[in-house]
Amino acid sequence: MKRLVILGSTGSIGVSTLDVVAQFPDKFQIVGLAAGSKDDVLEEQIRAFHPKVVALSSPDAAKRLRSRIDTTQVEVMDGEGGLCEVARFPECDLVISAIVGGAGLKPTLAALQAGRQVALANKEPMVMAGQLMQQEAQAHGVTIFPIDSEHSAIFQSMEGHRKVDIRRVVLTASGGPFWDWDAADLEHVTPEQALKHPNWTMGAKITIDSATLMNKGLEVIEARWLFDLPVAQIDVVIHRESIIHSLVEYCDGSVLSQLGHPDMRAPISYAMNYPERVPLHPPLLDLGKIGKLTFFPPNTEKFPCLQLAYDALTGEAGLPATLNAANEIAVHAFLKNQIAFLDIPKVIQETMAAYSPTPLSSIEDVLDVDQWARRTAEDIMKTCVLAV
Ligand SMILES: NC(=O)c1ccc[n+]([C@@H]2O[C@H](COP(=O)([O-])OP(=O)(O)OC[C@H]3O[C@@H](n4cnc5c(N)ncnc54)[C@H](OP(=O)(O)O)[C@@H]3O)[C@@H](O)[C@H]2O)c1
Repeated sequence: MKRLVILGSTGSIGVSTLDVVAQFPDKFQIVGLAAGSKDDVLEEQIRAFHPKVVALSSPDAAKRLRSRIDTTQVEVMDGEGGLCEVARFPECDLVISAIVGGAGLKPTLAALQAGRQVALANKEPMVMAGQLMQQEAQAHGVTIFPIDSEHSAIFQSMEGHRKVDIRRVVLTASGGPFWDWDAADLEHVTPEQALKHPNWTMGAKITIDSATLMNKGLEVIEARWLFDLPVAQIDVVIHRESIIHSLVEYCDGSVLSQLGHPDMRAPISYAMNYPERVPLHPPLLDLGKIGKLTFFPPNTEKFPCLQLAYDALTGEAGLPATLNAANEIAVHAFLKNQIAFLDIPKVIQETMAAYSPTPLSSIEDVLDVDQWARRTAEDIMKTCVLAV
């Protein structure tokens, strides 16, 4: 029986993880759950899975939850400290890190520092502080297993092979809903349009990131640190159907990949069960019926966020954290109709341009950059003409 903590249990990845757990009650036990402010959803999850500890980052939501459940059966904590307590809960074998954004950095780090194995969906902390996180993982003898479908595909395609034989990895990207649009039409994109992803159902922030191609940029940085590969060995290709989840090209020209219907339960389950596989009973992958898989080079003129991520990775050490923070602020503002879709890359680019390098040797240093970049992006946004 594997004992699990899920950070971000009320979100898209969290709910999919609980779906896998429910299918294999003899294999997994939920010992801890944590989320932001959805106390009603967390309450249902407590009643269904009986964790020992839970936390909500919102103290008000935690108070509401405490008033409705038996707190002798489950301890309810709150705030960032509460999330970190759940992350380092001792009777746990694997922490699923699935909070969205930089808010997941401290809890994920707490899990690593407590010596817990981590299955990582929450890519933003890896973008902000990938090197430091891997150092913590190594210092505490733990592995970070990828959940992101692209990184899971690379992880699976690397199994049984020597890293020195890798020529490059290629992350596939669906291209999002606006891949075929004329550049001029992107001016008028609304949040409702951007929230309609062609292939995946996900949380709001990653869906917008997919539409701007920032998600692929964040994944390039994530791959850099997850697999310890130089940026020159990380490429991206647009693959509209999201069937090939990424590829690894070896020095003899052989290319290995992992294919499957777009369903996050597959990479989640792989990370949870590694090195075993369990039957998830998806529909057969009928390539004869699918007929055609298409590929295109990414268009970084129309979608500059991907290039900004490459620039961040090849620039000063604080730039990935700057890029991530500015993106979070800009996406949040776009979702509230405060800036236009095309303002998102502008805000990020201007925030990155304003960054002056500071020493970056600890998580506190990273968090300082993060806070500075959030304030700077907010200031830059004041100059954006209200979009829609
Ligand atoms: N969805 C996918 O298919 C997918 C695929 C690959 C990678 N990922 C990555 O996985 C992460 C989660 O994505 P998602 O789509 O599951 O997002 P989501 O549906 O928006 O869920 C986000 C989760 O984070 C929690 N949360 C938000 N702010 C928080 C805070 N300040 N403190 C504590 N918890 C907080 C939310 O809690 P409340 O609901 O209570 O507010 C929710 O449980 C992201 O980093 C994303 O890039 C997602």
